[in-house]
Amino acid sequence: MGSMTMKLLLLCLSIGVISVVHGEDPYLFFTWNVTYGTISPLGVPQQGILINGEFPGPNINSTTNNNIVINVFNNLDEPLMFTWNGIQQKKNSWQDGTPGTMCPIPPGQNYTYHFQVKDQIGSYFYYPITAMHRAGGAFGGLRINSRLLIPVPYADPEDDYTVLIGDWYTKSHSSLRKQLDMGRSMGRPDGVLINGKNAKGDGTDEPLFNMTPGKTYKFRVCNVGLKNSLNFRIQGHTMKLVEMEGSHVVQNIYESLDVHLGQCFSALVTADKEPMDYYMVADTRFTKTMLTGLGIIRYTNGKGPASPELPSPPVGLAWSLNQARSFRWNLTASAARPNPQGSYHYGAINITRTIKLVNSARKVDGKLRYAINGVSHIDTETPLKYAQYFGVADKVFKYDIIKDEPSAEAEDKITLAPNVVNQTYRDFVEIIFENHEKSIQSWHLDGFAFFPTAIEFGRWAPEKRRNYNLLDAISRHTVHVYPGSWAAIMLTFDNAGMWNLRSAQPERAYLGQQLYLSVENVARSLRDEYMLLDQTPLCGIVKGLPQPPPYGP
Ligand SMILES: *[C@@H]1O[C@H](CO)[C@@H](O)[C@H](O)[C@H]1NC(C)=O
Ligand SMILES: *[C@@H]1O[C@H](CO)[C@@H](O)[C@H](O)[C@H]1NC(C)=O
Ligand SMILES: *[C@@H]1O[C@H](CO)[C@@H](O)[C@H](O)[C@H]1NC(C)=O
Ligand SMILES: *[C@@H]1O[C@H](CO)[C@@H](O)[C@H](O)[C@H]1NC(C)=O
Ligand SMILES: *[C@@H]1O[C@H](CO)[C@@H](O)[C@H](O)[C@H]1NC(C)=O
Ligand SMILES: *[C@@H]1O[C@H](CO)[C@@H](O)[C@H](O)[C@H]1NC(C)=O
Repeated sequence: MGSMTMKLLLLCLSIGVISVVHGEDPYLFFTWNVTYGTISPLGVPQQGILINGEFPGPNINSTTNNNIVINVFNNLDEPLMFTWNGIQQKKNSWQDGTPGTMCPIPPGQNYTYHFQVKDQIGSYFYYPITAMHRAGGAFGGLRINSRLLIPVPYADPEDDYTVLIGDWYTKSHSSLRKQLDMGRSMGRPDGVLINGKNAKGDGTDEPLFNMTPGKTYKFRVCNVGLKNSLNFRIQGHTMKLVEMEGSHVVQNIYESLDVHLGQCFSALVTADKEPMDYYMVADTRFTKTMLTGLGIIRYTNGKGPASPELPSPPVGLAWSLNQARSFRWNLTASAARPNPQGSYHYGAINITRTIKLVNSARKVDGKLRYAINGVSHIDTETPLKYAQYFGVADKVFKYDIIKDEPSAEAEDKITLAPNVVNQTYRDFVEIIFENHEKSIQSWHLDGFAFFPTAIEFGRWAPEKRRNYNLLDAISRHTVHVYPGSWAAIMLTFDNAGMWNLRSAQPERAYLGQQLYLSVENVARSLRDEYMLLDQTPLCGIVKGLPQPPPYGP
């Protein structure tokens, strides 16, 4: 064998090895033991829900294309299910973790979630979606990092910190749930937590994070609370916004940021101030009584405690609206695939359907319910998706009981039923959220990212389309709607599955403000959707039914 051939052979072999390494996407394995445990985040002992003894739960740190395998042991005395807020679950609503797409894990049993994270570089969180469990904890950060090959539009930060902010109740999840089941609201929260704590401000607080002078850090902030929008700021420091729910944004500088329920962003903060402690501040927005949560950041060569003088919060809805309008997509930044984000010209696509959704609240048989277009969703024992897959949908729910354009009466009467909207696969759709209530709304959609093209005070009308941002709205998965206001989003329903659209306020979702969009894989093709795995535990009327014929190629 000539030396040239030998070299070629070696070259081929080494390429072969590399491609094997790249071809098999890495796996991240987790085992979670979910238990009750006593916690006292506001100084009052209460029943919390812990993951491996931790509150909040552990962070999941992943990279594009990682396979995530989480074996969850439910050691609570109630059925449990986790959802992965904002993770798009391509072709795989089976693992989305909503009562419409899978069975909860019975007490004393375990279930293994298995999903692959894709090209959505950014900050997310997971939480238990069942029975108000989130009020007990068991939520945690979930991040997706960019593959090394794909550039990110900012220098690598010195470190990367997850900051979970949220209002908090000292009542247990079960007493809050009882309150809701009896027909009452949860009432006001008792405080605000930052990563499960609230600094006392008496000089004894341990720092949540350290910063080395001169270095820049990434803070991933999510509102994991139950009721209120929050304003987040860091004493003495500004924040350079770099990411929102999986999109690279135009990098503006902010003194504070409004974070509505279910939303996440990343901001860069440089340690360029006098070395000492500084407070992170999160306080409730648009409430009569403001609640404040504090956390400490410490400079590594720090000389003393944080100043008790907190930066003052912004005031009013208009401030918040103006800030929301300042968030823009960076059109030239790389998407995870090697073409810039802005190469997806959503503004040039024709709308095939407009759905207007109006939220309402009223008593039904003396009990508080929340509704969308007059229908207050109730979960079914048989997951909607399973009923459809096994061909028994007609025994479990009816499609399209709400109209795309609700009548005025729809607000005066509320019907309780599973709320499932039939949405044609791959269509480009406009959804208008109109909020006639006095409280702010935050909406979250599973399975997709969408473009919020407008948020405005007043009522929507077709001529409002003239003012849509059809150029650089941020692709994201939540949108908030101010009191007496509306918001418009646009998206392509290019992910087959059964997808939950819900109020990001757990109380409202629990009492019916949610629905499912059934994006059916009519061709039953594996190209469009994975099949249900044979060994998946079943519940409800599909238990014991024969598996339907396999999907075609
Ligand atoms: C989970 O934690 C509980 C309480 O600490 C313990 O009794 C149980 O053995 C643990 N289960 C697993 C599967 O680790
Ligand atoms: C997260 O994962 C990335 C990529 O593997 C790694 O570079 C980084 O150090 C990890 N961060 C933490 C906090 O574990
Ligand atoms: C439950 O945990 C065991 C032990 O780790 C594992 O072998 C099994 O596959 C798990 N069962 C499910 C349904 O995930
Ligand atoms: C947008 O991304 C590009 C490409 O990474 C970067 O050079 C630019 O600074 C970013 N622009 C803004 C305004 O953030
Ligand atoms: C959108 O609709 C307009 C008017 O019906 C039509 O002229 C145009 O070709 C359509 N564009 C696309 C991209 O389909
Ligand atoms: C959903 O809508 C499509 C398109 O209009 C229609 O073909 C299909 O039959 C509908 N499916 C159901 C279950 O109503």
